[in-house]
Amino acid sequence: MTNLADLEAANAALIAAAPDTATLDEARVQILGKVGNVSLLLKTLGAMSPEERREQGPAINGLRERMAEQIAARKAALEAAELDAELAGVHVDLTLPAPPRRRGSVHPTMQTMDEMIAIFADMGFSLAEGPDIETDFNNFTALNFPPKHPAREMHDTFFLPEDANGERKVLRTHTSPVQVRVMNRTNEKLPNWIAQGQEPPIRVIVPGRTFRKDSDQTHTPMFHQIEGLVIDRNIHMGHLKWTLETFIARFFETPEVVTRFRPHHFPFTEPSAEIDVRCDRSGGEVRIGQGDDWLEILGCGMVHPNVLRNCGLDPDEWQGFAFGCGVDRLGMLKYGMPDLRDMFASDVRWLQHYGFSPFAMPDPATGLS
Ligand code: DAH
Repeated sequence: MTNLADLEAANAALIAAAPDTATLDEARVQILGKVGNVSLLLKTLGAMSPEERREQGPAINGLRERMAEQIAARKAALEAAELDAELAGVHVDLTLPAPPRRRGSVHPTMQTMDEMIAIFADMGFSLAEGPDIETDFNNFTALNFPPKHPAREMHDTFFLPEDANGERKVLRTHTSPVQVRVMNRTNEKLPNWIAQGQEPPIRVIVPGRTFRKDSDQTHTPMFHQIEGLVIDRNIHMGHLKWTLETFIARFFETPEVVTRFRPHHFPFTEPSAEIDVRCDRSGGEVRIGQGDDWLEILGCGMVHPNVLRNCGLDPDEWQGFAFGCGVDRLGMLKYGMPDLRDMFASDVRWLQHYGFSPFAMPDPATGLS
């Protein structure tokens, strides 16, 4: 029979000498494994006489417990040392710059739209919206486009296939149909973001997407417009002129803008005009407020009596003016982009170059961008 004290001393030395957790595990197998020296001793208990077992049992079990405790303690110490060693080799350099984060930017069209909305909101206009898919009535008929009139073709309209009621809807060719929605009360149950049937006086601006079959340097099949509508008593061309001249001066952020009203024709306004701004086109770039060229920027006019009638308003009681302009085109002009198609090409380098910080929220009181 092995001397228990000698075995304990030898095992304790083995445990204490283990330099790492792997060697310690080997020691554990030698001592407490299936055929470990203490496990084998425990097995001898079965063959002993009861008296012997009474004496040896507690001694051998005590030995097993102490060995297990020593192994656990050594294991904890080795693990702590190993972790310390690992951490000592790791350097965190807090002076290193953080890895670059991908940052998005506000699209120039949205920035321009926000600027325009901010200016008109400051003048007391509220916002109205309508759907991209419009009825022929709202897009054309109510706006005084005669049926089958070639003017409908003038807009290079995208027509949708006939629906079950035989109705052919359109992708709206302009934001003007929202004028109709704002004035006209229908019994349709519409989502509440869609404007409907306001009582005059009305002062709204309508930003939105518009669609025409057209694509070149200054036209894209989808583009954005902002429409304006003012309906009140005794509204005249002077109100229209002041409103738009004030808007243009604030938008271009220069008092030097010179504008010109040029007679034009729109079916939904009478009289109608286009506004040009004086610019310089020499050197392939357009500069506002200089030179002796003119650039058309928006359409406007006094709301046609037929449009008021089509929307249930009495033209003898109510008058109004309206205007509409291309948002992307105004953005191009203000921020010097040469090609409208780039606006919708989703080229990340372009977006990074021309995009705006989300913190550059336009505020007419403190500057627009
Ligand atoms: N809807 C016109 C277009 O897309 C723009 C326009 C002109 C809107 C005159 C108006 C307006 O409200 O009065 O070309």
